[in-house]
Amino acid sequence: PAPIVLDSDPGIDDAVALQYLLGTGLWDLKAYTTVGGNVPSEQTFRNGRALARAFGIDGGVPVHRGAGRPLTRLPYSAAGEFHGAAGLGTEVLPDSTAPEQTESSTQALLRLSRAYEGELTVCATGPLTNVALALSEDPGFARRVKHLVFMGGAAEVPGNITPVAEFNAWADPDAVDLVVSSGIRYTMVGLDATHGWRFGAKELEILEEAGQDMALTARLMSFYLNAYRADEGCPLHDPLAVGVCADESFVTAAEGTVVVECASELTRGKTVFIPYDADYPREYYVESPLVNARTRHRGRIALGTGPRNFTED
Ligand code: BDR
Ligand code: CA
Repeated sequence: PAPIVLDSDPGIDDAVALQYLLGTGLWDLKAYTTVGGNVPSEQTFRNGRALARAFGIDGGVPVHRGAGRPLTRLPYSAAGEFHGAAGLGTEVLPDSTAPEQTESSTQALLRLSRAYEGELTVCATGPLTNVALALSEDPGFARRVKHLVFMGGAAEVPGNITPVAEFNAWADPDAVDLVVSSGIRYTMVGLDATHGWRFGAKELEILEEAGQDMALTARLMSFYLNAYRADEGCPLHDPLAVGVCADESFVTAAEGTVVVECASELTRGKTVFIPYDADYPREYYVESPLVNARTRHRGRIALGTGPRNFTED
């Protein structure tokens, strides 16, 4: 199994992403680094530790406390509507019995990027604050990480927290800007792809019949499904990012640059995808002040669902 860090703001779909990652058997999870997002960072840390216990990795995989506020902005109040007031629906999970890690999420990311230079995958399913802090402390982090896959942004579809912005990108747009400008090899898995793979009543039934190991997941997904109130079911945002770490064929992706809105409050966190194969004049994406020198780095941007069926997986 290959070394990976899951950086996350649990969160219901974050919790399912963790369980899915463990279940694939493809990864050696070196750390579960939490970050403020769906709920404040103290709560995501507590949830992360409780989930480690629930999924049988308590004490085996260290859980770290993450950034409590966005890079440059004041803490925001995240709506509990989709994840419940404490982030995990109505669950009250037993606390972890492992000793608390004193190393922060950012320090753990930096340490692991050195220990597994060129090998480490980072999957981020919350605001990118921890990753951005690692990059600003040591820009070499970009070169040492093999691949960063992050759930966030909406390239060509409407947002989900404002009409134009996806939640993770909106929560810390400056972090997204720093990350996509750093030269790190990245794949963005935003709403363009996650809205394509849905979990509905049929999938819930399968989970409910799957026995004790899946009982918590079934309860969490039942809450999430109700919160979404969509006929086509709820999106599998964060699990899809985990899936893409191993197999990009769950999505269709294109090469390009992402530019994120950091100046305007109205369009805060809006991600603009600028394809590299477009007919735009070269200056448009290389020399334009809009896409300045810092934002020239190429990434891969998921633009829709791919040939391999993620919901089935
Ligand atoms: C993202 O926002 C969070 O609520 C989910 O966990 C996911 O990471 C979707 O916009
Ligand atoms: Ca999340």
